[in-house]
Amino acid sequence: MPRIFSGVQPTNNIHVGNYLGAIRNWLELQTSNDCIFCVVDLHALTVYQKPEILRQNILNVAKTYLALGVDPKKSIIFVQSDVKEHAELAWILNTIAKTGELERMTQFKDKAKQHKENINLGLFSYPVLMAADILLYDTDGVPVGEDQKQHVELARDLALRFNHLYGETFVVPQPLINRNGARVMGLDDPSKKMSKSAASSFNYIALLDDVKVAEKKIMRAVTDSGSEVKAGIEKPALTNLLTIYSLLADRPIKEIEAEYSGRGYGDFKKGLAKVVVDFLVDFQTKFNNIADAEVKKILDAGAAQARKLAIGKIQEVKEKIGLLI
Ligand code: TYM
Repeated sequence: MPRIFSGVQPTNNIHVGNYLGAIRNWLELQTSNDCIFCVVDLHALTVYQKPEILRQNILNVAKTYLALGVDPKKSIIFVQSDVKEHAELAWILNTIAKTGELERMTQFKDKAKQHKENINLGLFSYPVLMAADILLYDTDGVPVGEDQKQHVELARDLALRFNHLYGETFVVPQPLINRNGARVMGLDDPSKKMSKSAASSFNYIALLDDVKVAEKKIMRAVTDSGSEVKAGIEKPALTNLLTIYSLLADRPIKEIEAEYSGRGYGDFKKGLAKVVVDFLVDFQTKFNNIADAEVKKILDAGAAQARKLAIGKIQEVKEKIGLLI
């Protein structure tokens, strides 16, 4: 069975973009693939995190996976720092990654601008750790949003480079990016992607947002000129809102356009707010019903399974490069 690996950083509240761009696709993949879903806590450290908040966020991301339908009977769910081989392989891959290629990473450039006071080495080599996550498990497919494509491409390059230097070792992974929802845009600015670190909370709908707040965010979302509810390049804001509606309600965009034809933006936003609120209520009910102890048990079991795979791979890597005497 093909191997799938993906993860989310426990930096803040997971938002609708993370769900529609990535996690929603995991749910389908887990039925016919060998899936591993990770809470990538070591990645989160590249930006300063308050320890007690990080601890809570790690648990919340795992709970979010479960509440959205990631099934621990089908998929391995674990926390990155519980399997030390990630950091070990990252170091080895650091020695074949070029500083020039890391300087070209758009996420690094953006984050370096945002955190001028803390452009640390971890932030710079972040994509190498991500490559280690992926390559450690002989991953075939990496379901992510559009913004992570460049990082998966680096993982491919590093796999090929390592294989060329030391012989066939790593599977060369493919990014799996859906046509719809791969780049959910900010509600307050449809020219930029929805982001956890946006300056205004009106940019995103967090999965744990109070439903009244979420409703307000939809009603305040930026729209395009005109009044027709239609997707298209000339209507980036409406295209984004229609995409969110379509994916959450599981209905084609054309059908939604037809329903709101001649009714204007206000009516459409009310309809979208209802779809979003229904989704959030369902999610939050499930989320709140999962006990911390239950998640910890699942994460412990997941780490044990992941560790077994990781130890085998790192052993092979060490042999190939001459570290095991
Ligand atoms: P992170 O935590 O920023 O985001 C998690 C996932 O959500 C997707 N995403 C979006 N999709 C659509 N529209 C958006 N506005 C949007 N914002 C975020 C991301 O593409 C991602 O799939 N580096 C990764 C985490 C990571 C990882 C990995 C992923 C670390 N190691 C190995 C895959 C495999 C990140 O920061 O994602």
